Amino acid sequence: MMKKIFLLSVFAVFFLCNAASEQILRVVTSADFPPYEYHEGDKIVGIDIDILREVLRRGNCKMVVEDMKFDSIIAAVQTGKGDIAASAITITEDRKKMVDFSIPYITAKQVIIVPENSKVQGVSDLKGLRIGVQHGTTGDSYVTEKIGEPQRFSDASMAVAALNRNKLDVVVLDNDPAMVHVAKNPQLKILEKPLTFEEYAFAVPKGRQELLKMINDGLTGMHLDKTIVEIVDKYNERTQKSVDSAQEDAASGFKADFYTNFVKNERWRYLVDGFIVTISVAFSSVILGVLIGFVVAIIRSTADQTGKFKIADFVCRVYLTVIRGTPVVLQLLIIYFVVFGSVDVDKIMVAILAFGINSGAYVAEIIRSGIMSIDRGQMEAGRSLGLNYSQTMGMVILPQALKNVLPALGNEFIVLLKETSVCGFIALQDLTKGGDIIRSQTYNAFQPLIAVALVYLVMVVIFSKLLEILEKRLKKNE
Ligand code: ARG
Repeated sequence: MMKKIFLLSVFAVFFLCNAASEQILRVVTSADFPPYEYHEGDKIVGIDIDILREVLRRGNCKMVVEDMKFDSIIAAVQTGKGDIAASAITITEDRKKMVDFSIPYITAKQVIIVPENSKVQGVSDLKGLRIGVQHGTTGDSYVTEKIGEPQRFSDASMAVAALNRNKLDVVVLDNDPAMVHVAKNPQLKILEKPLTFEEYAFAVPKGRQELLKMINDGLTGMHLDKTIVEIVDKYNERTQKSVDSAQEDAASGFKADFYTNFVKNERWRYLVDGFIVTISVAFSSVILGVLIGFVVAIIRSTADQTGKFKIADFVCRVYLTVIRGTPVVLQLLIIYFVVFGSVDVDKIMVAILAFGINSGAYVAEIIRSGIMSIDRGQMEAGRSLGLNYSQTMGMVILPQALKNVLPALGNEFIVLLKETSVCGFIALQDLTKGGDIIRSQTYNAFQPLIAVALVYLVMVVIFSKLLEILEKRLKKNE
């Protein structure tokens, strides 16, 4: 008996350990915040990432990192989209209501960045100035509560770029990232007196006690054996190196900028990979959109003409009203965070679904207007030839209708292609996001923005050309 129990428990322990060693946790971050988290080549690196990886290693777990905008991070953990958020997150009372925090691992402060020749000396001079912050950060809430409405940017490097171009008077930011920005932009400086003192911690969904304990144990050990300090030092060195090379790069003209933005570290890959995502999302969702559009258009016009399908018609009307009455970014976010709130789905699928459902509404109205444009006599003619309603619809009306609306459908695709540029909101690395990542690494707004715009433009021009050819062919066949 004893032997059996012993064997069983050995087996159980073995099984548990094995299961534990295979656990992979989903980590969300906003990789726009060097030295804490940023893109390097095709990897996301930084102090937070290294600390957390070591914490998890000690707890026998692995991680996959996912990049998203900072203002979505807390929501992502709260809704279980991520198991842990590692994003230089300051512990605050408000956030504590939404997520659980680990013990702190770094202390930080909010500081003021100003141009070298600025007259601003401290917080008392800030009233009425143009202040830039990263949206959703503690810098944002401090300025909003204590000083006045700031200008909110989706990442800090955009705010710094705006400061550089004289579009802002100051930027409020966490100390270490501020030092990185200032090192790369020698015409800027940091004011001595900080605005706040803060502590960074990892965030986990409420109630994940075991996970939290594992993280806290890991952090405690790493405080004690100085691993955290080592990681921070390593990144300080790295920053120094990258600052040196950035200053070499700064001796620039168009050619040197081009090299830094696209050639160095194979940065062009962000654009190519992003391009592939954009094209696949746009094409798949236009197909979904046309399918939905067809069904809705046929239901609606049949209901119009024959009085049948009353309920289906009502459902279609609600669909059209809701989809056309709300912005596509919100639809995308709602599908991602609410509809698929607690299931793990591929983000490309989410995007295709969101844009497909959105586009379907517009396609439906385009096709319906095509059907309406066909003379009523055609239906009567078809019926008197002995065809029934659906035969006439399918063989007589729809083919003509489609030809009439082809330009409008093409236009819908062009609109859709560009609308997918909001994919970055759910952390999908599309073309626009690819440009953003380059910008956050090179601190150069001009070339990446123009390059991304050019790629969209070329795509649209090529597509318009194809459409033109198709239209001509169809005319010939008449
Ligand atoms: N510490 C600040 C906060 O919690 C800013 C963090 C921004 N982090 C980032 N990865 N962009 O609000």
